[in-house]
Amino acid sequence: MSYLALARKYRPDTFEKVVGQEPIITALRNSLRSKRLHHAYLFSGIRGIGKTTTARLLAKALNCASGPTATPCNACPSCVETAEGRSIDIMEIDGASSGGVDQIRELREIVRYTPIRDRYRVVIIDEVHMVTTAAFNALLKTLEEPPSWIVFIFATTEYRKVPATILSRCLQFFFRPLPMSLLVEHLRSICAQEGISVSDRGLFHIARLAAGSSRDSISLLDQIVAYCGLSVDDGDLLQILNIMSSDVHERMARAIASGDGGAVLDEIAKIVECGCDIVSFLNDFEEYLRQLLVVKIARAPEKLIDTYEEDLQALRGVAALFGEEADLLRHLQFLMQIEANLRYVHSPRYLIEAGFLKMCQFRKLIPIADAYKLISNR
Ligand SMILES: Nc1ncnc2c1ncn2[C@@H]1O[C@H](COP(=O)(O)OP(=O)(O)OP(=O)(O)O)[C@@H](O)[C@H]1O
Ligand SMILES: [Mg+2]
Ligand SMILES: [Zn+2]
Repeated sequence: MSYLALARKYRPDTFEKVVGQEPIITALRNSLRSKRLHHAYLFSGIRGIGKTTTARLLAKALNCASGPTATPCNACPSCVETAEGRSIDIMEIDGASSGGVDQIRELREIVRYTPIRDRYRVVIIDEVHMVTTAAFNALLKTLEEPPSWIVFIFATTEYRKVPATILSRCLQFFFRPLPMSLLVEHLRSICAQEGISVSDRGLFHIARLAAGSSRDSISLLDQIVAYCGLSVDDGDLLQILNIMSSDVHERMARAIASGDGGAVLDEIAKIVECGCDIVSFLNDFEEYLRQLLVVKIARAPEKLIDTYEEDLQALRGVAALFGEEADLLRHLQFLMQIEANLRYVHSPRYLIEAGFLKMCQFRKLIPIADAYKLISNR
């Protein structure tokens, strides 16, 4: 049997099951009921809080055989295919990989034609802030005077990066991070359905680490169950969460800054042993280094990083270990190189180990100006 990640398995298939976004769901259902529909919607908010889910639900509601309806039947071919992401009249585009001007021009051609089977052609563009400026411009005309059968649903985690010209043509919905209590409650219901036993305290810790994201909380649960089995012991849970929490980034950064290769290898081993994904660790660590760089350079870092004041203090402490701005920049660039090379290697772990060990050596490098002085003083 193929394994379906819990977060996918529990993707809400009805509006009622979407947790914590009541104002948005109510507004959408009202507009479906009263048939006051828009041609372009923008869903924004942090990762994993229901944007793509709601976009698919809206698409389903628009195209259900008995629709447009606030209560799609979930049984007609359109509903079934939409839920499975294979409806012929619904296009899902990833702005990050397909946001180029050529692809958007192509899209503009396609939307000129009426839907093949259903009522609307629904175009969902995920990560829309990644769409290039030229491509946005190509899209503007269509957004300005869309054919009556077109509905655009844009989703983004970075609302500020979406051009104002696009924003002003969309009906905007701001998804909110889920409060801890809702995350815990949702996790509890998934645990009950899956026969997983975790203490309330454990669920609380998971929810805290997920920082408002439903998907993150469910993925964490998944990871913990992969490691502990269905019956999760509090001690084991804390141990895994501790490794996955941001402390690991700080420990790793400290090890690199002090050139402690042994500690670097230990940290990587712990990550692998607890079944965490080493590649996502690399991505997270890159984000962490960026934060270090920001606290070092920026005048008002709190505007550029989403974090608490205590965390900023901790970041400043670690950033100080790295000497100058250029040192951190070199680490960050090197990390990006490792990331780019990942696809060429068989074992990401070895590449990452080798790369991190190399970063441990960076502090021995001296700036080129100093090297020049050394040579010219000879
Ligand atoms: N509001 C929610 N209620 C219930 N489950 C949710 C909610 N938000 C997210 N989830 C869970 O997280 C998974 C991913 O959600 P979704 O794809 O909608 O996130 P997203 O907001 O589009 O995130 P991203 O910005 O990363 O694309 C869902 O399959 C579901 O399990
Ligand atoms: Mg999404
Ligand atoms: Zn239907």
